Amino acid sequence: MKLKKLAVAMTAVMAFGAISVPAAAEEAQVIGISMPTQSLERWNRDGEYLKEQFENAGYTVELKYSDNDSSQQVSDIQNLLADNVDILIIAAVDGEALNTVMDEAAESEIPVIAYDRLIMNDATSYYVSFDNYTVGTLQGEFIVETLDLENAGDATYNMEITAGDPADNNAGYFYQGAMDVLQPYIDAGTLVVVSGQTGFDSVATDQWDTQTALERAQNILGSYYADGTQLDVWLCSNDSTALGVAQGITSDYAGDNTVIITGQDGDVANLANIVDGIQTMTVYKNVSNESIVTLALAEAVLNGETIDASLCDTFEIECAYDTESYETSDGNVCPSFLLVPSVITADNLEELVDTGLYEMGEDGYLTAVE
Ligand code: BGC
Repeated sequence: MKLKKLAVAMTAVMAFGAISVPAAAEEAQVIGISMPTQSLERWNRDGEYLKEQFENAGYTVELKYSDNDSSQQVSDIQNLLADNVDILIIAAVDGEALNTVMDEAAESEIPVIAYDRLIMNDATSYYVSFDNYTVGTLQGEFIVETLDLENAGDATYNMEITAGDPADNNAGYFYQGAMDVLQPYIDAGTLVVVSGQTGFDSVATDQWDTQTALERAQNILGSYYADGTQLDVWLCSNDSTALGVAQGITSDYAGDNTVIITGQDGDVANLANIVDGIQTMTVYKNVSNESIVTLALAEAVLNGETIDASLCDTFEIECAYDTESYETSDGNVCPSFLLVPSVITADNLEELVDTGLYEMGEDGYLTAVE
């Protein structure tokens, strides 16, 4: 924006024939990106991919990480606005804690794309994410299929549940998607949550923190499974929590090592656990594709184009334009572009290699391509 103002001034000078200005330098638009934290693996990837995509397309990028602290994120975004960014791309630490700064963005007429996590404020222009409810559905269906619950007869299976951060709007969708699949089996007594902890609030994990998930898992294992009770499944909403739960099971559970553990993201440590048979699946979301969709959307917004489903024809990524599922306030729908998640297990790890984003080492473990 600063550059644009300068350009206007220069054009005025040029009209009087005083000097000339190279065109390209005037045009660079600035993309302000605010990511929640570097302590959870995926956001490092998101930040890198977004920066690369936008810079390759000729934009200037300002990228900030907020250390999982929403007041830090407010001040980061205020700094981005003070630097006259042309558009904001925000993955919120807390989707309900950005009202002040969203008002400031609206006053400055800066469009805001909520990235991956919805911001609960009507100044959010668009939302780019994966189909979050489907992430949970895939986890629930995986459990149903792996245990063949439809044909379980009188058999019963013991399960525990670990969900995500209540401040993250996605966490409820993941949980609900899975529970809508699993609840009928809980009601029928086929799945038994031995701890009795099933409500979202009792299974949530602040900040998706691995250590917090580990400690809760240890408490549950100590209280309900130390007597030899068999544990069959631990539904975990994502990989950072699955990592803690897996550590807890390894250290504090004496039963056999066949507990089904779900996850989400394809974090490298969790992929190693999948290879080792410690974690059973992860719901993979290609965040490189998420950054490509975000670039296409941001460009269209900055160019003043009409935004609708036809944007999805401009990239070769499966993505739905959704004007029903996500509301920033009661009745206020946020137009959303939703990508499609997929299930990864030990049997199809090659699919990750095929994305070009992971390499399979000679030791059989995957690493992320730098
Ligand atoms: C993302 C997940 C991620 C979690 C913790 C969620 O908002 O959608 O992919 O596992 O945050 O980082």
